Amino acid sequence: MPDGWQWDRTLFQGSAAHYQRGRLPYAPGFAETLATALGLDGRGRLLDVGCGPGTVTLALTRFFTEAIGVDPDEDMLAEAERQARRRGVTNARWVAARAEDLPAGLGEFRVVVFAQSFHWTDRDRVAATVLEMLEPGGAFVHISDLKDPPAEPAPPPLPAPPYAQIGDLVRRYLGAVRRAGRGTPVNGTPNREDLVLARAGFDDFERHVVAAGEVVDRTADDIVAWTFSRSDSAPHLFGDRLEDFERDLRAVLRQAAPGNRFAERLPATEMMTWRKPRGAR
Ligand SMILES: C[S@@+](CC[C@H](N)C(=O)[O-])C[C@H]1O[C@@H](n2cnc3c(N)ncnc32)[C@H](O)[C@@H]1O
Repeated sequence: MPDGWQWDRTLFQGSAAHYQRGRLPYAPGFAETLATALGLDGRGRLLDVGCGPGTVTLALTRFFTEAIGVDPDEDMLAEAERQARRRGVTNARWVAARAEDLPAGLGEFRVVVFAQSFHWTDRDRVAATVLEMLEPGGAFVHISDLKDPPAEPAPPPLPAPPYAQIGDLVRRYLGAVRRAGRGTPVNGTPNREDLVLARAGFDDFERHVVAAGEVVDRTADDIVAWTFSRSDSAPHLFGDRLEDFERDLRAVLRQAAPGNRFAERLPATEMMTWRKPRGAR
């Protein structure tokens, strides 16, 4: 987890309601690419840790007999359950827990996924636990938006969402140092998952990038939802200034696009996989 930072349950407090609307989807076809890469055949069990509103869990349920989404944020799990019901998914269930609480009696898995959630965990400890929870040859999967290179700007006429100005506004309200939960992660988001996974005893690393690039229209409401879906501008951080912040945010958006419509390209999705060695117990 970020240096000097302590997890607390306010991390994504109030974000769940905004998540589905605000976040851009992973690249179309990411689930099929992963299924092919891992040779998924509809058998075995999936664990999605830090599942949020179940975006990745629900995209993958059809490749497994059962899927379990784990997240400490009960509002996120309620959203996941709602989405599962809406899509008629019957082989997924949701467990309120932190990654650090695993194995939590959940049993053995063929695949354990962390989609933009591993960096919030005590990574060495969690990687060691996941190794024990996987069947031999099972896979640890890390999924995220590909940030480098960033997605190309969308073509005119609609403007891009004014992310830099939104960042400035958040800093005006919350201060120059990024906030998350009740603390301030000093070193930003940790990376080098490869070192963590190698230390834990995983091998057979593969990297798959699924291109996206489709241009999507976004309304001002979508961008407001995006802002509140983030841990560093989650609604609770603004306290009794939340309404003032939202009013100022909408003013920034109106100034950037008087018609309140924006366009941007979907980012590519990066998936990194490691295997539990077949000889390991
Ligand atoms: C950026 S969201 C990603 C949600 C989802 N995986 C996705 O890709 O859309 C990060 C999620 O990780 C969860 N999370 C944060 N710390 C965690 C921890 N220590 N253990 C498990 N989940 C955690 C948060 O509650 C949040 O739902």
